[in-house]
Amino acid sequence: MSKIEPFAETIFVTRPVFPNIEEVTEKLRDIWESKWLTNNGPQHHMLERELESFLKVPYLSLFNNGTIALMVAIQSLRLQGEVITTPFTFAATPHVLSWNNIQPIFCDIDEETMNIDANKIESMITPHTTAILAVHVFGTPCNVEKIQQVADAYGLKVVYDAAHAFGVEIDGNGIGNFGDISMFSFHATKVYHTLEGGALVHKNKNLKQRIDLLKNFGIKNEDEVVMPGINGKLDEVRAAIGRIMLNYVEEEQYKRRQLHKIYDEELGNVDGIKLMPKCPENVKSNYQYYVIRIDEKVFGKSRDYVYDELRKYNVYPRKYFHPLCNEYTCYRQLNSSSVENLPVANVIGQQVLSLPMYGELAADDVRKICAIIRLVASK
Ligand SMILES: Cc1ncc(COP(=O)(O)O)c(C=O)c1O
Repeated sequence: MSKIEPFAETIFVTRPVFPNIEEVTEKLRDIWESKWLTNNGPQHHMLERELESFLKVPYLSLFNNGTIALMVAIQSLRLQGEVITTPFTFAATPHVLSWNNIQPIFCDIDEETMNIDANKIESMITPHTTAILAVHVFGTPCNVEKIQQVADAYGLKVVYDAAHAFGVEIDGNGIGNFGDISMFSFHATKVYHTLEGGALVHKNKNLKQRIDLLKNFGIKNEDEVVMPGINGKLDEVRAAIGRIMLNYVEEEQYKRRQLHKIYDEELGNVDGIKLMPKCPENVKSNYQYYVIRIDEKVFGKSRDYVYDELRKYNVYPRKYFHPLCNEYTCYRQLNSSSVENLPVANVIGQQVLSLPMYGELAADDVRKICAIIRLVASK
């Protein structure tokens, strides 16, 4: 194909799943009748139980977004000093550490999974280290066994930022069961959402009580405020929408899975393009994102060039995650931010491109996006 016309309508990297408006209206009517809008209402309670079952986890606490949830996770475990994390993530991950007066220590990432390199964590531990904050990037599970081994050997807590990993399972075990606490984001762009929202998943009742106090200003009852909490509550409207959205996840994942296959087929033989990492057989993937890596030396064009070219065709991919967190002005002075400490992350940060991925995206549009990428290589 030598000439390809730009898309008539912009193709964004993702598009939220919209529930049926009648279903929403019906639920809104229930809420109006209940006269309960927020503060642990019936929708909130039911969604917590439904999500515990869906995610196969013992205890779950809902939040108004994933970032506040993660801030509370750090508070609830009383972490301080230094926490080892990845530079290849969304800004919220290191920022929640800073908001808790903790220094993020960046550890390099694994070449294949793009997650924190579990084999390098040990070398980053100092007497000030209190935890590991790892991210299941693009829904690919971290090396959870190795991370737990290191944590146990040094008495560290493990917190997972599972913002991308809704519904992912390892050997039938919900991804939220690993580590001390996992955070899920229910932001509108995620495969499952509550418009904005999030959750913490944890293994014991005492921790749930502490987390639930922390997300409600530390208010225990009318006479007692027992800790400096924050407002992390999810309201009834969003909880109700979350209950509806649970019925949409599997179909959305199925549709995305078909699109993953097309990207794999269409880009699999293009020299210089590395496809989205494949999860091992024992992992149930959620197909949330489709991310490629472009090796400029082999492909002949840089990631940034492909990004610019796609925009000329009205396709808006994203450079997730660029810039790396260690490149932010607020973190670049840290010792762990040096290029020498993060050789793999520095290469991958220049190569990744997140391609359009959402259930409503047409198969032919995916084929056309791939044809544009191949055309760019041949120009
Ligand atoms: C890896 C990661 N962590 C944290 C967050 C923050 O979640 P939220 O937007 O729900 O606050 C996101 C958001 O998209 C994310 O991608």
